[in-house]
Amino acid sequence: MRWSDDRLILLDQTLLPEREVERGYQRWEDVAEAIRALVVRGAPAIGVAAAFGVVLATRQSRAGTFDGLVVDLETAIKGLAATRPTAVNLFWALERMKRVALASGALPLTEVRARLLAEAQAIRDEDIAANRAMGAHGATLVPPNARILTHCNAGALATAGYGTALGVVRAAHAQGKVALVWVDETRPVMQGSRLTAWECVREGIPHRLIADVVAASVMARGEVDLVVTGADRIAANGDTANKIGTYSLAVLAAHHRVPFYVAAPFSTIDPALASGAEIPIEERDASEVRRVGAQQTAPGASPVFNPAFDVTPARLIAAIITERGVVRPPYRF
Ligand code: MRU
Repeated sequence: MRWSDDRLILLDQTLLPEREVERGYQRWEDVAEAIRALVVRGAPAIGVAAAFGVVLATRQSRAGTFDGLVVDLETAIKGLAATRPTAVNLFWALERMKRVALASGALPLTEVRARLLAEAQAIRDEDIAANRAMGAHGATLVPPNARILTHCNAGALATAGYGTALGVVRAAHAQGKVALVWVDETRPVMQGSRLTAWECVREGIPHRLIADVVAASVMARGEVDLVVTGADRIAANGDTANKIGTYSLAVLAAHHRVPFYVAAPFSTIDPALASGAEIPIEERDASEVRRVGAQQTAPGASPVFNPAFDVTPARLIAAIITERGVVRPPYRF
């Protein structure tokens, strides 16, 4: 993701790994649609993209007064917030943008616009720095010759750069500690096989792709030393929402006495929610489950339940890796 010539440039993640296509965005409405359609996805990445969406809204606005600009920005913020409900980074980033806008009333409009661009760039740069710090902290938990299992994509693609869970893998790999990464394919949208495997290939990280249903077997064979995943929202008690299937992995890891870690920046923590029961879980279209790519794999008439995320209870999480260090239970955010 980058900002170039007054446009937000996104690598279209729906086309990976087959095609690497960049798309330029000049309207906040199109950024909202890109978030909804998973052109950009992953909790920190959608926060950063939405922040740049607000920047685009400042440029689209024809308002000649501060109050008029605020009305236009509030419309954009509402539209961007309505895209995906689970990852709190989206709302956190939009709130930051709104706060900067509202604090800029005394300034000329050109200055307000410049401040909002600077804030979006700061959100992006802070995310990359947080990921690098998380990588360094998380790598201390990785033993030599580690076989690490991960789920979904919590890599550079899911963030402003470097990655959270995959950032930990990256840092440990740079220290020569990674023997193998087991990459869950992550049905139904295949973020593991399409995106995490793509990142591993590009980075030269030794990995092996597995169907999600294989995780239990590789753990039973003693071939997993730790599990690390990202997060979309962490409640005050440490309960963690992440890609559907994460909870099953945490249960499996507990059964096989494999440590289960979550890596996430503080922007993913929502201290306003007491527990995971309060986290809104997005449900996506039935077609994601009824089809694999263009191939129909279920009767069109079959009803589907397609939650995009699940909640892993805090008691199954050995540690939460943040940019400020490794947090152990009991969690109190
Ligand atoms: O539906 P997605 O692809 O946006 O879901 C992404 C995840 O669940 C990631 O694990 C999470 O956002 C962390 S990304 C650093």
